[in-house]
Amino acid sequence: MKISASFLNSKDVVKDLVKLNETDVDYIHLDIMDGKFVKNKTMPFSEMKNIYKYTSKRLDVHLMVENPMTYIPLYASLNTEYITFHVEINNDIEECLKLIKSYSIKAGLAIKPDTKVSELVPYLPLLDMILVMSVEPGFGGQTFIEETVNKINEVKSLLDSYHSLAVISVDGGINDITKVNCDKANILVAGSYIIKADNFQEKITSLR
Ligand code: DX5
Ligand code: ZN
Repeated sequence: MKISASFLNSKDVVKDLVKLNETDVDYIHLDIMDGKFVKNKTMPFSEMKNIYKYTSKRLDVHLMVENPMTYIPLYASLNTEYITFHVEINNDIEECLKLIKSYSIKAGLAIKPDTKVSELVPYLPLLDMILVMSVEPGFGGQTFIEETVNKINEVKSLLDSYHSLAVISVDGGINDITKVNCDKANILVAGSYIIKADNFQEKITSLR
């Protein structure tokens, strides 16, 4: 299992990024919020881009924004492996996915707990990742929604039936107990569970 660490709930981002860089975590998960798609708003790109000073890990960018087109070129300029945005936006999804791919970056679509998996179907040929939200997007430290298990199973069957090689990532409320619901996933995103601990590596290892 690959692990992507979210620092959304960090009280000292620089310190935690430096600590994470000393672990074997696979990705740093960047939660980007615009105050429109979700109520919260995260720091602007002018500040976020400085992350390169503190981490050599590849980035897994999760855009919780209404208009990904304005964010994609910015985040594509960092050490980014995946850019993911939400299937629930009211913008041209195919155009956004193609823009991500034009930078040779892997493209993902995220799906909220109440959204039907069938919404993903039209975009499957362009997808490298499906990010299954196991909490409502907006803030860290929430409880894993148990029904996500069915969602992961549905996404896995959908990918298999379309012969898609897209990976499944699960985001929200992940810890050493809730991870047992996610055996069909390829990547687990964990925030509070890692960041609140003294020993980050121990927590990361317990999720693998
Ligand atoms: C929620 C974010 C998640 C979250 C993960 O909107 O997308 O990435 O910060 O944090 P935990 O693990 O604390 O739920
Ligand atoms: Zn996230």
